Amino acid sequence: MEYLRIPGTDLEVSRIALGTWAMGGWMWGGTDEQQAIATIHAALDKGVNLIDTAPVYGFGVSEQIVGKALAQKKCRDRVFISTKTGLDWKDGQVFRNCSPDFIKRNFADSLKNLQTDHVDLLFVHWPDPLEPFEETARVLHQFLKAGQIRAVGVSNYSPEQIQAFQRGGPVHVVQPPYNLFEREIEADLMPFSKKNHLALMTYGALCRGLLSGQVTAAREYQGDDLRKIDPKFKEPRLSEYLAAVKLLDQFAWQRFDRRVLHLGVRWVLDHGAEIALWGGRRPDQMEPLPEIFGWRLDQPALHAIDQILQETIKEPVGPEFMAPPARAD
Ligand SMILES: NC(=O)c1ccc[n+]([C@@H]2O[C@H](COP(=O)([O-])OP(=O)(O)OC[C@H]3O[C@@H](n4cnc5c(N)ncnc54)[C@H](OP(=O)(O)O)[C@@H]3O)[C@@H](O)[C@H]2O)c1
Repeated sequence: MEYLRIPGTDLEVSRIALGTWAMGGWMWGGTDEQQAIATIHAALDKGVNLIDTAPVYGFGVSEQIVGKALAQKKCRDRVFISTKTGLDWKDGQVFRNCSPDFIKRNFADSLKNLQTDHVDLLFVHWPDPLEPFEETARVLHQFLKAGQIRAVGVSNYSPEQIQAFQRGGPVHVVQPPYNLFEREIEADLMPFSKKNHLALMTYGALCRGLLSGQVTAAREYQGDDLRKIDPKFKEPRLSEYLAAVKLLDQFAWQRFDRRVLHLGVRWVLDHGAEIALWGGRRPDQMEPLPEIFGWRLDQPALHAIDQILQETIKEPVGPEFMAPPARAD
C-alpha cells in the first residue's frame, strides 16, 4: 500500500480508499450486511485505512455498516472515516440540500450511525445552487474548529464553485469522478487542484465495475441497480467500452503481468489523483488490492493506453446521469 499526508492536515491516508456506496444497497440492487462488514475488514487487512461513505448511501445503512465494522474490529482510532452531507431525501427521492439546519442534523445523524464523536473528512456531496457556497463553508468550518471533523472536502464542485466556497472556509480535498473512461477533470479541476494544493480523492476507479474485466454484455442487474440507467452499460456504447476493456486487459497482461482491473486503478494513481476510491461489497473483490502496488505506468504505457481508448471509444459519455436534482422550492 502507498500512503500520503493530505496537505494542510495531519491525515496520513492510504492511496486507495474503500467506497461503501454499494454496501448501502440503494441504487445497487440491495445490501448484505455480513458480506459488507467482511469486505471492510478485508480492505483494512490489506492496508486500506480510509473508508468513504455517505448518509444517503442506503439512507443511513452504509454508515451504520461502517460503524459496526470498525466497532467489531475495535479499530476506530486506526481508521480514517470520510462521510458527506448535503443530500436530503423524501419518500426515496434524493435532492440537494445545503441549508445550515439540514447539514447540522444530517451530520449529527452521521456521528450516531458511525458510532463516533468525529469524522476525519467531511465532504459536501453535491453543490446546492439554492444556498450560497460560502455559507455552507462556514458551517463546515465550525465543525472543523470544534474538532468534530479533521478536514473539509467538496465533491462534484467546479473550480469556480470551489473558489466561492473558499471565501467561507478552508477546503483540503476534492472528490470528483475519474477513471480511464471518465476524464473530464483533466481540463479544469485537476490543474486547479494541483495549483491550490488540494488533494484529489477521485471516485469510480472501476467505472462502476466496467473496468473490473468481469462485466459482460449478458450480465443482468437487479432491482434499482444504477447500471440499468447508465448509458455506458447500454448499446451501442457497451460494445465499445467492452472492446476497450478487452484490449486494455491484453496490454496489461503483456506489458505488466497484470489485468485490466490493476491497470485501471494504477492509471488513476499515476495520472494525477492522490487517492483512488474503489467500491466493493464482497471480500473477494478486495483480493486484487496488493497487486496495484510495486509497479508504475511509464510514459510509453500511458501513451499506448490513450491510443487504445481513442481507437475503441467513438462515442464517449460521462457520468452526468448520476447528478441528483436541486431542491424543489
Ligand atoms: N461523491 C460522489 O458523488 C460519489 C459518486 C460515486 C461514488 N462515490 C464513492 O466512490 C466509491 C467508488 O465508486 P463506485 O462504487 O461508484 O465505483 P467503482 O469503484 O468504479 O466500482 C465499484 C463496483 O465495481 C465492482 N467491483 C469492485 N471490485 C471488483 C472486483 N475485484 N472484481 C469485479 N468487480 C468488482 C463492484 O460491483 P458489483 O459488486 O456489482 O459487481 C463494485 O460495487 C463509492 O462506493 C463511493 O464511496 C462518490
